[in-house]
Amino acid sequence: MKQRHLYRIPVSVNEAVEHLNNESVVAIPTETVYGLAGLSASDDAVLKIFETKGRPRFNPLIVHCADLAMAQEIAQFSELAKKVADAFWPGPLTLVLPKRDDAKISDLVTAGLETVAVRLPRHPLAKELLRKLGQPVAAPSANPSGKLSPTAAEHVINAFDGAVPVVEGGACETGLESTILAISNEQLTLLRPGSITDEMITAALGVTVYFASDAKILAPGMLKSHYAPNASVRLNVTTPQPGEAYLAFGATNASGPTVLNLSAVGDLDEAAKNLFGHLRKLDASDVQTIAVAPIPEIGIGLAINDRLKRASADRSS
Ligand code: TXA
Ligand code: MG
Repeated sequence: MKQRHLYRIPVSVNEAVEHLNNESVVAIPTETVYGLAGLSASDDAVLKIFETKGRPRFNPLIVHCADLAMAQEIAQFSELAKKVADAFWPGPLTLVLPKRDDAKISDLVTAGLETVAVRLPRHPLAKELLRKLGQPVAAPSANPSGKLSPTAAEHVINAFDGAVPVVEGGACETGLESTILAISNEQLTLLRPGSITDEMITAALGVTVYFASDAKILAPGMLKSHYAPNASVRLNVTTPQPGEAYLAFGATNASGPTVLNLSAVGDLDEAAKNLFGHLRKLDASDVQTIAVAPIPEIGIGLAINDRLKRASADRSS
C-alpha cells in the first residue's frame, strides 16, 4: 500500500540530510520560498522532484550550494561572475552560468542545456543542511507545478498532503523566488526579477543589466501562466466589485472578510513577503475572482507585478 500522510510533523535538519542521502526528496526553507530538494548528482532524486511537482522535464532546476567552492565545481565563473557572487551571495540571487564539462550533476537538472542555474541560499537551516550534506541539491519551489509558491512549512505540508517531509524554517524572509541573472560573454541579463533588483546589481558592479525580451523565453520556466491561485485574478483594481475578494496595497476603503492588505503602510518589501500567503488565504475563501490593487513598478515592485501578471494570465494556453 502506498504510504501517505507520513510527514505532517516537520523533520529535523539531520533527518533531512538522511533522506537526501537516500536519494529521497525533502522540502527545505530558504530566504525566498521553500524548495523541494534532492541530490543534484542523483538521477533518481531529480526524477522524484519532477514527479512530485508534476513539472515538465524541459524546465531546468536551480542547484543550491553551501559555498562558492561547491558552486565552482559545477559552473564556470568568469571574473564578472565572481564579482557578482562576491557582492550578493549567500542570498536571493541565482546565476545562470556555463556548466562545467566535468560537473557531477544529473543531466535532468539542466534539461540538457549547456548552462546551469546556481545559488547559495542564506537561510541558516538551508546553510546548515548543505554544509552537513557536503554536496549540492537541486531545488525548485516546493509547490505543485504552476501553483503558488510556498512561503511557510504548512503550505508545503498541505500542498502535498503530508507526502513530503519538510524542515520547519518559519516564514520566508523575502517571500518571492530569487532573482535570476544570466552571465554570458560578460553581459548580464535578468531572466526573472526578484528582491535583488537590476538597480542593485548595477549599483554594486557598475555594469548594465539587460532585460530578457518577453518573446524569447530564456528561462524555460518563465511560462506566461504560473504562480496561479484557483480563483481568477484581476489587476490594477482600486475599487473591487461586489463579490470579489480584494488584495489591497496601502490605504483602502475596502473592508470585510475577503479583504487583505499586502502592506497597509505601502511598504513593498512587506508586500513581497505577504504576496503568496495572502493570495492563498483569499483563494481559500472560495471566491471566483481576486481583485488586486495597483503595485508601484519600482524596486521589488517589478518582481511583485511579474508574479501577479502570471497569476492573472489566461490559463487556456
Ligand atoms: O528562490 C528560488 O529561486 C527558489 C528557491 C527554492 O531557491 N527556487 C525556484 O525554483 O524558484 P523554480 O524551479 O521554481 O524556478 C527556477 C527557474 C525556472 O524558471 C527555470 O526555468 C530557470 O530557473 N532555470 C533553471 N536553469 C536554467 C538555465 N540553465 N537557464 C535558464 N533558466 C534556468
Ligand atoms: Mg517555481
